[in-house]
Amino acid sequence: MENFFICGGNKLNGTLNISTSKNAVLPILAGCILCDKQIILHKFPKYDDTKNMLNILQNLGAKYFYQDDSVIIDCSSIDKCEISIELASKIRSSFFSLGAILSRFKKAKVAYPGGCAIGARPIDIHLKGLQSLGVKIIDKHGYIYCDGTGMKSGDVTFDFPSVGATENIMLASVFLKGKTKIINCAREPEIVDLANFLNAQGAKIYGAGSSVIEIEGVKSLSGIEYTPISDRIIAGTYMIATCMCGGKVELTNINYENVFSLISKLKNNCCKIVCKSDKLTVVADKRPKCISKIDTRPYPGFPTDLQPQIIAMLSISKGTSVVVENLFESRFKHITELKKMGADIIVNDKAAIIKGVNQLYGANVMCCDLRGGAGMVLAGLVAKGYTTVCDVHHIDRGYFEMEKDLQLLGANIERIKEI
Ligand code: UD1
Repeated sequence: MENFFICGGNKLNGTLNISTSKNAVLPILAGCILCDKQIILHKFPKYDDTKNMLNILQNLGAKYFYQDDSVIIDCSSIDKCEISIELASKIRSSFFSLGAILSRFKKAKVAYPGGCAIGARPIDIHLKGLQSLGVKIIDKHGYIYCDGTGMKSGDVTFDFPSVGATENIMLASVFLKGKTKIINCAREPEIVDLANFLNAQGAKIYGAGSSVIEIEGVKSLSGIEYTPISDRIIAGTYMIATCMCGGKVELTNINYENVFSLISKLKNNCCKIVCKSDKLTVVADKRPKCISKIDTRPYPGFPTDLQPQIIAMLSISKGTSVVVENLFESRFKHITELKKMGADIIVNDKAAIIKGVNQLYGANVMCCDLRGGAGMVLAGLVAKGYTTVCDVHHIDRGYFEMEKDLQLLGANIERIKEI
């Protein structure tokens, strides 16, 4: 087990280049399945999740190798249309490849991605969407068996704008003759990036970023060299960290529009934020103030993936704040850990009522999931004394060597292997 050992209290200062978005790369890797020409992804981030997704492609028969900071992928040799329980259980996004596998083979057998630490995470929207395109589905013994021989373009209407389901249906429709429409789809920047990646190699996807996407079927994709967008959640994590610790941090390789919902909560609170081309600077020199209400919502609303980090900040902010988690029912586990550090938080169903305390105190705390773990690291950075954040493999799923980023900014944090 690996832990982070943190001595809190340092201000953060310096420049950090934001790495490539995990949530953009994962569906793009699934999209590689559609193409039998070489694909080169630049600035490839080696998070555990992205490496696991590459393993899934390899298991299907693809070949890949790293060259400097790029990965070169050849999916022409894919000859399998099955993802095992063992592989699917490592990463939920394995399920995003269902649409692409179906598109290529007209059949697929993919293990049920199962639950996850932050909630039940059903897949009904994905399956209903595929059924609307004529896919026949059998759910048996932990596997979803799909017969896509009767697949055809058409209208798919979602009850809720699921990110993964939008990506799955986009991938399933790229080659379907005629026009497919996804109505009430998700609008996240990662969906726009997937559309850009596919369009740049000949796909015809219109409207990504709005709540209706139209896909005109094409015959093939050409392969491409592509650089996916930067990670707005990592950027947001370090913006919040700066507000908590104080200091001046410049983030480069960032699209400020993608973190606008966070900027609107932080500016006029405790910091100055200056955005210039692909740079964003946060200057913080006073204690943060409470925020009367934050509701997590699909993009462009406040992201659920920044909820634990903002709760960590509000736990030391002046006054009482309320955060409502609307997306995942078990995404408050970090609150139990924050309370061990002295936070004053009451959870009432979907709402966390946070009375800001003057000081958090170092403690031994658990990292319960990816973003919850990031929230605990931020709490450790600002706490008085020493904090051990245990079992940080969750954090490694979506942050590459987070401790090195924070060391670069002046934080006192080490990765310790527990033997
Ligand atoms: C993606 C992100 C994840 C983020 C989430 C919400 C990736 C790899 N992951 O996850 O980091 O936290 O969006 O912004 O991009 N739902 C159903 N049925 C379904 C699918 C979803 O009820 O078939 C529900 C979920 O339980 C949840 C909500 O819809 O309450 C949003 O989930 P969704 O947008 O699908 O999240 P993911 O794509 O899994």
